[in-house]
Amino acid sequence: MTITYKDSEGIAGMRVAGRLAGELLDYLALHVKPGITTNELDRLADDYTTRVQGAISAPLNYAPSGHNPYPKAICTSINQQVCHGIPNDKPLKKGDIVNVDVTVIKDGWHGDSSRMFMVGEVSVAARRLCSLTYEAMWRGIVQVRDGAYLGDIGHAIQTFAEGHGLSVVREFCGHGIGRDFHEEPQVLHYGKPGTLDRLKAGMTITIEPMLNAGRRDVKELGDGWTIVTKDRSLSAQWEHTVLVTPTGYEVLTLSANSPPIPAFAKS
Ligand code: MF3
Ligand code: CO
Ligand code: CO
Repeated sequence: MTITYKDSEGIAGMRVAGRLAGELLDYLALHVKPGITTNELDRLADDYTTRVQGAISAPLNYAPSGHNPYPKAICTSINQQVCHGIPNDKPLKKGDIVNVDVTVIKDGWHGDSSRMFMVGEVSVAARRLCSLTYEAMWRGIVQVRDGAYLGDIGHAIQTFAEGHGLSVVREFCGHGIGRDFHEEPQVLHYGKPGTLDRLKAGMTITIEPMLNAGRRDVKELGDGWTIVTKDRSLSAQWEHTVLVTPTGYEVLTLSANSPPIPAFAKS
């Protein structure tokens, strides 16, 4: 597979898909509270995507090589779960932190975004991890412009994360996105400035750092999907889909109730 560059029609399609992903997270945010199960969130998500948005849940039956088909419409990764947690019948409880990762397909275009939710009151350490990971994502996003290097994004995220005593998961990365869910290039969340491929206007990529409170090592559970920290430390992730523009970036997965954009990212 190669990098795809979106023309004005592709950009228009990606803007719509991105906004729908953001709006789906806005909707789910209303329901994340102690006692709800992740299967209930999954059902709400798929119903909203298909019936309200007239779109498709991309994760459902997604089967990249080496994986069994993903069985649900969203990923819900709780506490020490890093990513790709599979919704189940266990209720969320006070003190949990949960990443909800959604990807919608609208008119063939993909919009991919995730947020952390804090269930009831959570520990200071958990809150700090969620908010530093949010800032790390934005430290990466602001590197995006025509001509920037992929290594610039990774470096910005890694130096910020490690400077705050957090570790960066290496096994999973951001990605090109468009008519396919996962396109080239890989967008690493660690690296060195001025290295790897250069961004070009018209590319659409995701930036989705996974940061751990403890060591960076992860392992896959027996379900073939769920990734957890080896040391069982807390993990957090945020994700936006971003368009590379001639002068900078446009975040495509913003919506009415997206969390505030950090001051350093405002033009
Ligand atoms: N949404 C994830 C990402 O950000 C991918 C999930 S793949 C699934 O790339 F099959 F687990 F849904
Ligand atoms: Co993604
Ligand atoms: Co995602």
